[in-house]
Amino acid sequence: MAKILVTGGAGFIGSHTRYFLEKQGHNVIVVDNLSRGYAESVPAAILRQINLKDTDRLIDLMRQEAVEAVIHFAAYISVGESTVFPELYFTNNVGATISLFNAMLETGVKKLVFSSTAAAYGIPAKVPITEDEPYAPINPYGESKVMVEKMLEWLDKYREFRAIRLRYFNACGAEPEAGLGERHDPETHLIPLILKAVQTGEPVKVFGIDYPTPDGTCIRDYIHVSDLAEAHIFAVEHLLNGGASDVFNVGTGHGKSVKEVLASVERVTGKKPPFTIGPRREGDPPSLVADSSKLQTKLGWSPKRAELDKIVADAWQFAENHR
Ligand SMILES: NC(=O)c1ccc[n+]([C@@H]2O[C@H](COP(=O)([O-])OP(=O)(O)OC[C@H]3O[C@@H](n4cnc5c(N)ncnc54)[C@H](O)[C@@H]3O)[C@@H](O)[C@H]2O)c1
Repeated sequence: MAKILVTGGAGFIGSHTRYFLEKQGHNVIVVDNLSRGYAESVPAAILRQINLKDTDRLIDLMRQEAVEAVIHFAAYISVGESTVFPELYFTNNVGATISLFNAMLETGVKKLVFSSTAAAYGIPAKVPITEDEPYAPINPYGESKVMVEKMLEWLDKYREFRAIRLRYFNACGAEPEAGLGERHDPETHLIPLILKAVQTGEPVKVFGIDYPTPDGTCIRDYIHVSDLAEAHIFAVEHLLNGGASDVFNVGTGHGKSVKEVLASVERVTGKKPPFTIGPRREGDPPSLVADSSKLQTKLGWSPKRAELDKIVADAWQFAENHR
C-alpha cells in the first residue's frame, strides 16, 4: 500500500477517489486550497490547505509525508467561465500544475495520474471516441488540459516522469452513504441541475432540441463518479508497479440524451422535472461518447454502476440530504 497525494481532494471527483483509495488500503494525503471544494468532504487529519502554486510548501509536504505518487484533480472546471476569464484557467490549470511538477521533480516523485477531459477532443470526427482522436479543444478550459497533457508527454520522454492521463466524460452520481456528492458552485452539470429543478420547481434549461440525434437533444456519456474513482486506483497502481505512461478515456460507452436523463429523473424521483427549451449553445457537439475499451483491456477496469437510474438515484439521495 502506498502513500498517495491527492490534489483537489475536497472537490467532487477527488473526494470520491480519496474515499475509494482508503478503502483499498492506501494512505492518502489531500492538498486543496478549498477555493472550490468542501473541507467536510475530507477527514480533517489528512487535509492540507495549500495552493498548488506554492511549490516550496508542496516540496516540504511531499518530503515529510514520503509521497510515492500523485493523483492530480485540482483545477477550475467551468467551460463557460474559461471563455470569460481564459487567463484564470491558464494560471490555475497550467501554472499551478507546473508548480506541482517542479515539486515532484525536486523530490523525485515521478508518478502521476492526471484528470483530463473529453473537452480535449473538441468536436470529434467520430463517435464513440478513441484515444487516437487528435487534440482539438474549442475553449480555454479544454486547451488548459491539453497543455498539461503535452507537458506530460515531454516529461515522460526526458525526465522518466510516468503519467496516466484519464480523459473523463460526464462525471455524475454520488456516494450518499459516505456523505459525498456533486456540489459545484455555480453548478453547470445536467443531472444536479435537473434534480435542483425538481426540488425547487424552478425549470432547468434544455439547450437545443434540434440536434441530429434520435430525440433531438444532445447525447453524453454519463459515468458514475465511483466508477471513475476506481479507474484512478487501477491507474495509480499500474504506475506504482512500474507501468508505463499512457492515456485512457473513461466513460461507459453508452450515450444518453438530455430527454433520457429527464425521464430517468422522473422515474427516480416520481416527479416530472420542469424545463424550458432554449437555443443550442455554441460549441456543444451533438454526441460525445467514450470508447473505453483500451482502459478495460489494458488496466482491467470496467464500470459497475453504468445504469442511468442508479446514477440518478445516488445523485438524488445526496441532493435530498443536502437540500
Ligand atoms: N466533473 C466532471 O464532469 C469532469 C469532467 C472531465 C474532467 N474533469 C476534471 O476532473 C478534475 C476534478 O473535477 P471536479 O468536478 O471534482 O471539480 P471540483 O471543482 O469539484 O474540484 C476541484 C478541486 O480543486 C481545488 N483546487 C482548484 N485549484 C486549486 C489550487 N490551485 N490549489 C489547490 N486546490 C485547488 C478546488 O478547491 C476543488 O476542491 C478537474 O481537473 C476537472 O477538470 C471533471
